[in-house]
Amino acid sequence: MTKNNLSPSWKKLLKAQLTANIKEQGPSAAYLSLSTVRPDNNPANRVVVFRGFAGESYKEETGWESDLLTITCDKRSPKVQEIAANPNVEICWFMGSTKEQFRIRGRMHAFGDGLNPSESLNSHIGRKHHGMPSLDEEKEEDHETDFSDRLSQASKSFLKRIRSLKHHIKPNAPFDWQAERLRQWYGLTDQLRATFTWPAPGTPKEPVEEEEATFRIETLTIEESDDNGWFSHQDADKRALLERGYENFVVLFLEVTEVDHSYLETSVRTIYRKEDDTWNAVEVNP
Ligand SMILES: Cc1cc2nc3c(=O)[nH]c(=O)nc-3n(C[C@H](O)[C@H](O)[C@H](O)COP(=O)(O)O)c2cc1C
Repeated sequence: MTKNNLSPSWKKLLKAQLTANIKEQGPSAAYLSLSTVRPDNNPANRVVVFRGFAGESYKEETGWESDLLTITCDKRSPKVQEIAANPNVEICWFMGSTKEQFRIRGRMHAFGDGLNPSESLNSHIGRKHHGMPSLDEEKEEDHETDFSDRLSQASKSFLKRIRSLKHHIKPNAPFDWQAERLRQWYGLTDQLRATFTWPAPGTPKEPVEEEEATFRIETLTIEESDDNGWFSHQDADKRALLERGYENFVVLFLEVTEVDHSYLETSVRTIYRKEDDTWNAVEVNP
């Protein structure tokens, strides 16, 4: 039995096994299958990329921790409508190097323009009180020198936005979901970011001759941002593209209710279920 916290045992296991698989197989270890329910009640299943736990980064310390799995997608893709109609989803994740399966069930929350995360998500994320100096205690100059130097540009923008919202003088301020969405937008490759400006996913492709007339950029770089982490390109076309792409950019947060984990080789199968804010792990027959 584990008391409710932001680092339950299934999360520690998932992170450790993912790290081991990425070491062996590379970034494709982060591909998983996400199933939703279509409006006609049939299942829909597709491969997506795991983008980490909300507020956390595998590269550096952000000062936050959560038990919410993060996935990014286009607002215009059918899965966003499916989740709005029925947020119950299941993930199936086979980790090939260690030969194990995670089946993760829960409720999906979509966050984007016109889509707000539910208040209940705030109880799934909190400040980490170890491993880094707290934003509240640290002086601004200290950020600029020691701590800030260790962060990537994406995280700097994230912290800037947090500071701009004066979170550093409000110790109990909730997590800034908009800053998190922005950080995820920065974290995409320039090629993937460009696809958010393209015609809607799943719509028929234009015939070749007409396609030439359709302006389709292959890469979308963020070269400049203002003090709040927003895009402030001098180039108005570039800024418009970044804003248009960002409008279509949605972050999905999975509030996990059950994890069914199986090792293929040892046949050990464990089900983690959340009951009354407490995670229970039960070993079951494979
Ligand atoms: C390796 C791989 C990774 C993918 N990653 C994502 C992803 O992270 N997010 C996403 O929305 N679609 C991703 N896709 C595309 C989806 O599988 C899917 O085709 C698309 O999102 C449309 O799904 P929908 O029509 O069910 O909304 C990926 C596809 C592949 C092959």
